[in-house]
Amino acid sequence: MVRSYFTHDNWLEVQADKGVPVYRDCYIDDLRSIELGHWDLRGCDAAFIKFTNMEGITEARVQEIPPGGSLKPFKLGVDELIYVIQGRGFASVYGDINGVKRDFEWSARSAFVIPRNAWCELRNMEGDNPVRLLHFNYLPLGMTVVSDPEFFFNNPAVKGSMIDDADGEFFSEAKDIIKEFGSAWGTVGAKVWSGNFWPDLLAWDKMVDAGSRGAGGSTISMYVPGSELSAHMSVFPPLTYKKAHRHGPGRLIVIPGGEGFSVMWPQGGEKKIYPWHEGSAITPPDQWFHQHFNVGGTSARYFALHPPVQFIGKEEDEQGNAEGINIEYTEEDPWIRQIFEEELAKRGLTSAMAEEAYTNPDYKFSKPSVS
Ligand SMILES: [Fe+2]
Repeated sequence: MVRSYFTHDNWLEVQADKGVPVYRDCYIDDLRSIELGHWDLRGCDAAFIKFTNMEGITEARVQEIPPGGSLKPFKLGVDELIYVIQGRGFASVYGDINGVKRDFEWSARSAFVIPRNAWCELRNMEGDNPVRLLHFNYLPLGMTVVSDPEFFFNNPAVKGSMIDDADGEFFSEAKDIIKEFGSAWGTVGAKVWSGNFWPDLLAWDKMVDAGSRGAGGSTISMYVPGSELSAHMSVFPPLTYKKAHRHGPGRLIVIPGGEGFSVMWPQGGEKKIYPWHEGSAITPPDQWFHQHFNVGGTSARYFALHPPVQFIGKEEDEQGNAEGINIEYTEEDPWIRQIFEEELAKRGLTSAMAEEAYTNPDYKFSKPSVS
């Protein structure tokens, strides 16, 4: 038995004892099909995901809404980002103060944020398919500071939410802004997207070039007004792969679309392959190198939910010197290229990586593609 030391860990074990599965690894093949169990607190089927090195920092869980069903109003004491794994539904969000409801529809691959201390009611709009949602928050940290789980769930003593003062734009599509605030994620002056709602991450085409990670990839940085939650999404073209890099723990990656795999390894350790497709989830453990490969016929996308900025961790190369450095294609283990080309060959495909990328460290990929 693993001993628990902090409030959220102990609370999670209580939920597990009551029949809610807890998945403990750095990878889930398909969030759409993992087994769930009844969670009495929310009155729905659910599972918790305790990804490696996210323990005690972030909470991830899958919740299901049965066909035609709804989940009763619920008020959580921390901001929560919800990604729609499958299905189509409706949310009503409102505060304790003025009671004005903000209603909006969401569908597969939407992402939205329910602000702390706002009531949220979720409804499945389809009569024949269950909805599955991925919920992500920093509740473990909250429970460390206020070591009383009940404080965070439907607490009648806590009233007032930013939704009480929000204008009608609160759940409209995220807007691009120039980042003029400090945070560890991205540089001041860069273009980022700010908002509480992204309608479909697979269809989202407002990307910017992400040159330094190779493969002609592009990206968006996503911020939430009034919250420390943030995320980014990367897109990279078919039949290419990105450079390896590493950093601190707690990035939860979910795949909105595409077919590929990631290779992850601790420094000097064994390299393992993690295949992915829509609905897969993966987290690179603390300071493990990781590298993403697209072996499908379309662009691949990954949506990375961030840990709190305090946990961003250092970024360095294999020699441990320099921040934010990738392993360049010219420096990588030849096995990397070999396994990529083998996986393509199994599918009757060939690499779109330019030969020069492996010999010229200054090689520049062509314009990003988001098709
Ligand atoms: Fe990464």
